[in-house]
Amino acid sequence: MEKKFYLENVVYQIYPRSFCDSNGDGIGDINGIISKLDYLQDLGVGILWLSPIYKSPLDDIGYDVSDYMDIHPDYGTLADMDNLISEAKKRGMRIVMDLVVNHTSDEHAWFIASKDINSPYHKFYYWRKGRANNKKPPNNWDSMFSGSAWKYDKDVDMWYLHLYGEKQVDLDYHNEEVIQEVEKILKFWLDRGVYGFRCDVINQIYKTSLANGRKRLYMTGKEHYLNQPGNHLILKRFYDDVFSKYDCFTVGETYNIDINETKKFVDHELTMCFNFEHLNLERAKIPVFKKKYRPATLKKVIKKWQENLDWNTNVFENHDQHRSIERFGSLDYYEESGKMLAMLLLTLRGTPYIYQGEEIGMADNSYASLDEINDISAHKVYAQIKKIFPFFSEKKIMEMVDLNNRDHSRTPMQWDDSMYGGFSTSKPWIKDNPVDCQRTNVKKALADPTSLFHFYKELIRIRKDNPVLSYGKIRFLPANKNVLAYYRYDNNDSFLVVVNLAKKKIKNAFYEDGEIVLSSYQRKDLLSLDYLMPYECYLVKCK
Ligand code: GLC
Ligand code: CA
Repeated sequence: MEKKFYLENVVYQIYPRSFCDSNGDGIGDINGIISKLDYLQDLGVGILWLSPIYKSPLDDIGYDVSDYMDIHPDYGTLADMDNLISEAKKRGMRIVMDLVVNHTSDEHAWFIASKDINSPYHKFYYWRKGRANNKKPPNNWDSMFSGSAWKYDKDVDMWYLHLYGEKQVDLDYHNEEVIQEVEKILKFWLDRGVYGFRCDVINQIYKTSLANGRKRLYMTGKEHYLNQPGNHLILKRFYDDVFSKYDCFTVGETYNIDINETKKFVDHELTMCFNFEHLNLERAKIPVFKKKYRPATLKKVIKKWQENLDWNTNVFENHDQHRSIERFGSLDYYEESGKMLAMLLLTLRGTPYIYQGEEIGMADNSYASLDEINDISAHKVYAQIKKIFPFFSEKKIMEMVDLNNRDHSRTPMQWDDSMYGGFSTSKPWIKDNPVDCQRTNVKKALADPTSLFHFYKELIRIRKDNPVLSYGKIRFLPANKNVLAYYRYDNNDSFLVVVNLAKKKIKNAFYEDGEIVLSSYQRKDLLSLDYLMPYECYLVKCK
């Protein structure tokens, strides 16, 4: 494999609103990020992906952009952004922006202009007359946040398409001018020195037709907009016209994608694609219902993707997911569970993605009622459940909502155990988690050499010092159904990784001529390793 920055470096996702507040207004900002660059450099990450910081009415916390070429004043200015890019560069780090171009905010100038049917912007969006004499939406598609994907506008006397919230209006990529405008945005940021983009819901941007979809309980209409051939043509355009001309990296947020689909998006379209199959293991088909999580299934899914896709994205958390420790491990073994996940993230073949706070094992929050929740999708899901299951108790409904409540991972970063966790001097914009802040925070983790933080740091260092852990091949060994054991190897070096995915003690079957370079139970000697303890993992440098 040709050497590349993104193949060797770890991505760290920052959710700017909740990372660090520099001016005491309770909202994280760009200067706050700059003040933590030394911390991130110490951890060893190389690529910082920022969730959206553009101008936005913040209906979906920035995933509803009203100006792609400016910064929301809550976060700072373009000058602050330039400063961040150069301060990161000084420390060997690169910045990646979130590219949210399936839709714009309804407060974007294009959308406002589009309400005039004679304006050229009218064709930037899907404005249509409804069915039944304009009384019913133009088709039966669902919004991803539940309810119809269409909204009627009185002034225009037409409906517009929104696959997400009502204030997130889908762009029409049949229109050449839309493609050209997006290319301007890409160049604007690449010319400012950013390294690339995380491309929001990028496998849905092209709607082949607006025909009714086959009726489903969730995502009716998807056969007309998911992974469409036209989608590939647009990404190829972006690649040929822009990406290929820069030293740049792109990762697609691609929900509902299998390995074969993924292969179509990589290389001459995107650099890599997120796979979230393993992040849906405890959700039923209709995502408000829970399914029991089994470590053996996680093992199967990981193995399948690793064996069949050349380059993966290794990810357990992001701003849309619950925290990972309780999902895949347990809070009573939080250090051990966190270390097990870290071992997988950093030693499986692929680019590792760490979400802010994952490196100190932050946990989910608790929400007694809807008023405590900020997330727009949780609110929509609540309304929808109430409509469909009016006889369900409030407690039951809140349990179902909780599965889709994205606030859990958006709580303020826990820097220390002071008021508001060192995130801000005033009350944070979102419900914080003071209990968890006492349990884990950066200050405490830095002081303890056996902490999860130091385990991450050590793994990142080992991965950097040993290119075989990035570029080497992977081979899985036969093992207990709850144990993942694999070699990473090339012509010169070889590492063995052993991970107990379960809480159960399991007999160890792996003895290797070599030296333990990292162990979550501080083991030094392989021969005494008769049993793998709960969530135990270790890394051996083979002779
Ligand atoms: C992606 C984002 C999510 C957002 C949605 C709509 O899934 O990660 O936060 O709500 O796209 O932009
Ligand atoms: Ca602030």
